[in-house]
Amino acid sequence: MHYKNSMIIHSCLLFLVFNALSACSQSINSIITQGQVIRDGQTIISQSQNFTLGFFSPGDSSSRYVGIWYTRIPTQTVIWVANREQPIPNKNGTLSFGSDGNLVLLDGNSSIYWSSNISSTSSNSSAILIDTGNLAICRSADIGDTRKALWQSFDHPTDNFLPEMRVYTFSQTITEARAVVTSWKSPNDPSPGNFSVGVDPQGSPQIVVWEGSTRIWRSGQWNGLIFIGLPNVAARYLYGFKLDNDNNGDLYFIYTAEDSSQAVRFSIGWNGKPEQLVWDEGKQDWDVELSEPSTECEEYNKCGKFGICSLDDSRRCSCVEGFDPQFEDQWDRRNWSGGCVRRSPLKCDSVNGTYDGFLDVEQVKLPDFANTLPATNLRDCQDQCTNNCSCNAYAYVSGIGCMVWTGELVDVEKIAGGNTLYVRVSDSDLGKYIYLYHLLKFGILFKTILKLFFPFINHNLLVSTCFSCWLVCLENI
Ligand SMILES: *[C@@H]1O[C@H](CO)[C@@H](O)[C@H](O)[C@H]1NC(C)=O
Ligand SMILES: *[C@@H]1O[C@H](CO)[C@@H](O)[C@H](O)[C@H]1NC(C)=O
Ligand SMILES: *[C@@H]1O[C@H](CO)[C@@H](O)[C@H](O)[C@H]1NC(C)=O
Ligand SMILES: *[C@@H]1O[C@H](CO)[C@@H](O)[C@H](O)[C@H]1NC(C)=O
Ligand SMILES: *[C@@H]1O[C@H](CO)[C@@H](O)[C@H](O)[C@H]1NC(C)=O
Ligand SMILES: *[C@@H]1O[C@H](CO)[C@@H](O)[C@H](O)[C@H]1NC(C)=O
Ligand SMILES: *[C@@H]1O[C@H](CO)[C@@H](O)[C@H](O)[C@H]1NC(C)=O
Repeated sequence: MHYKNSMIIHSCLLFLVFNALSACSQSINSIITQGQVIRDGQTIISQSQNFTLGFFSPGDSSSRYVGIWYTRIPTQTVIWVANREQPIPNKNGTLSFGSDGNLVLLDGNSSIYWSSNISSTSSNSSAILIDTGNLAICRSADIGDTRKALWQSFDHPTDNFLPEMRVYTFSQTITEARAVVTSWKSPNDPSPGNFSVGVDPQGSPQIVVWEGSTRIWRSGQWNGLIFIGLPNVAARYLYGFKLDNDNNGDLYFIYTAEDSSQAVRFSIGWNGKPEQLVWDEGKQDWDVELSEPSTECEEYNKCGKFGICSLDDSRRCSCVEGFDPQFEDQWDRRNWSGGCVRRSPLKCDSVNGTYDGFLDVEQVKLPDFANTLPATNLRDCQDQCTNNCSCNAYAYVSGIGCMVWTGELVDVEKIAGGNTLYVRVSDSDLGKYIYLYHLLKFGILFKTILKLFFPFINHNLLVSTCFSCWLVCLENI
């Protein structure tokens, strides 16, 4: 009796151990090899079990898609979808390597629903799901080495940007603004929706959100550490980005989470909200760290051309000094779309002794569509802008250098920790500043003459004279 019982327990234990082993060897499978078929219901799990690849149905849809989601997060959060636009209507789909060496998704009739579509394939490839959430196809000899990947899902993101993903900003092939991730159409439909997020490399790179081809938000330019168009508090959440270059000298953005054990992602929601999300283990939910546009003034170009949006201003919008609303009646009705226009045309004619001047607008998110010029300091930057009659404004930002704007000034916002923008206006619009302005001009001239004719007078001596007091005062304006 005793013997019999222990036999039963023993065989039960053996059975359990055997099952656990087989479950283990199945779940540790993070590789799809040539000839292996992944059927609907089967999954591939990354080495440390951070991510799972398999078939799923989004929301209340019954269509089947192949995607990647977080293994340990109970509310299925899909970060990548293969067949976004080609759902399989039933559970007969399979994922495997095709005869051409591509990873293909087939239905029960062997029709292709998705393909990795690589032109230079290898006859001996494998696909591996890496712990970063990246599915990489490599020659079997290079398995897991993403630098040698023939194809990787990180190069074809869906609606999520993840840590360690590279977004190229400058390369031989990338010179224009481009979308990197695109929203789902609805919670039940991962096909591409109306919203996308990407990088605009012009001037100094910045993050841009589009609705169709219209910009609806931007981060402001990259200064080597942060994006300068975000108020201090919001900018904090974007620490972790780095602009780096690869072996070819191409530049890319990469995000590294402060704490790699915490799941972080940037996602563009189907309703157009770009968000930074962090998984909260305690709450068992995603925390929204950053969601833009977070205020009325963060909405792209809220106040129109040459307008400034300010949350401190109960009217929200005002014109840059020297500019007036284009349509006064609309402007009074808080319809800002017309923006502002110059009060008096620029002269830009130093030959006849008529000058334009610059008025400074402090603490702002600098306008969109900047160009950068080589200039070593603020004065040099101002000179370059002065000499180009179509230059409407300049700014000198540490980490970026001399920025100039030749078109309309759009999307300017008052922000804490913002930069100073110098806007070109006709001397007749320098208004209360005109007197000081000419005084300054005269002062510089006077100082130059002094230096020319009395080079032996040193600065210390000058300071003791009445003239120099005046000059010092002027220099501090
Ligand atoms: C697909 O699966 C359904 C059941 O889900 C089955 O009835 C049908 O015959 C299958 N079709 C093909 C083409 O395999
Ligand atoms: C598969 O083929 C059968 C017969 O050709 C067809 O009736 C069925 O609709 C096909 N299924 C799919 C999912 O295309
Ligand atoms: C596959 O790639 C070729 C170019 O390499 C492209 O023309 C074609 O549209 C791609 N097909 C799919 C289904 O993405
Ligand atoms: C594929 O590559 C693996 C690893 O390099 C090797 O062991 C295997 O023999 C290769 N298979 C074929 C068919 O070449
Ligand atoms: C995988 O998850 C573990 C535990 O959450 C974490 O420590 C590790 O950094 C993750 N690996 C990657 C590559 O994200
Ligand atoms: C996307 O755009 C279409 C066409 O303008 C519109 O009908 C639809 O409601 C938009 N969807 C969302 C989520 O904004
Ligand atoms: C707002 O003003 C523009 C002119 O700048 C006009 O075309 C548009 O119809 C106005 N919108 C509303 C809602 O009044």
